[in-house]
Amino acid sequence: MLLNPELAKQFHQDGFLRIENGVNQQERDRLVLRMRELAHRRCENSRAVFETGEANHSGDEFFLRSAQNISFFFDKNARHDGKSTFSSLNKVGHALHDLCPVFSAFSHQAKFYDLMRLLGHEKPLLVQSMFIFKQAHFGDEVPAHQDATFIYTEPSTVIGLWFALEDADENNGCLWVIAGGHKGPLKNRFCKSSSGLKFNYHEKVRWPRELFKPVRARAGDMVVLHGHLPHLSEVNRSAKTRFAYTTHFVDQKAHYAKTNWLAFR
Ligand code: FE2
Repeated sequence: MLLNPELAKQFHQDGFLRIENGVNQQERDRLVLRMRELAHRRCENSRAVFETGEANHSGDEFFLRSAQNISFFFDKNARHDGKSTFSSLNKVGHALHDLCPVFSAFSHQAKFYDLMRLLGHEKPLLVQSMFIFKQAHFGDEVPAHQDATFIYTEPSTVIGLWFALEDADENNGCLWVIAGGHKGPLKNRFCKSSSGLKFNYHEKVRWPRELFKPVRARAGDMVVLHGHLPHLSEVNRSAKTRFAYTTHFVDQKAHYAKTNWLAFR
């Protein structure tokens, strides 16, 4: 078991939890090696992969399709001067857990479902996965957000698992969170609409930068994130990459909004 009732209590208090030994060395090596292979070949099934030069959410069609395939998002700060695909990527997602056997075997382990149940899910469902590169010297920032903005259920149930595949600290773009900030309202929703994908302003909330504290992680750590927890990561200006893998679960007992961008398989 990754969790006990004491840790569950801490999660509900703080909105996040760092747990050691979430992903062991062998698993880390396997995931990174597999990602190298995917990036090299771009895919196992060419129909399942699209590419974009955009690291943001423009290119609505590309982004929407990525919910159900393995899409490659390049980092907007990457200069394509002889760099390999692998060294230019921002992230790869969002159905690695479904389509790639290596990522699937890791992501669907019973211990992660047990963890979700201990945190309150009745019927946990894994809906999204991403490999995040945070490349050395230029890996882009991720602005402050709440995951429930992108994966909205009523009541709110999304929980993220963030696996450190490498050490992460303030120098190479670790997570920053507002401890206890999950008790505040949802600031924004990212929705499908007739005019495309857009943020629907939800609540007037300010998250002063000074409230965010770094969550340093050792390779192998797992950070559990409440869907309402404000979090961000900065540009990686160091010489060290900061690879991470993330999965997101919702409770099937909750209503899954049809306007969510993420239409999972
Ligand atoms: Fe996030």
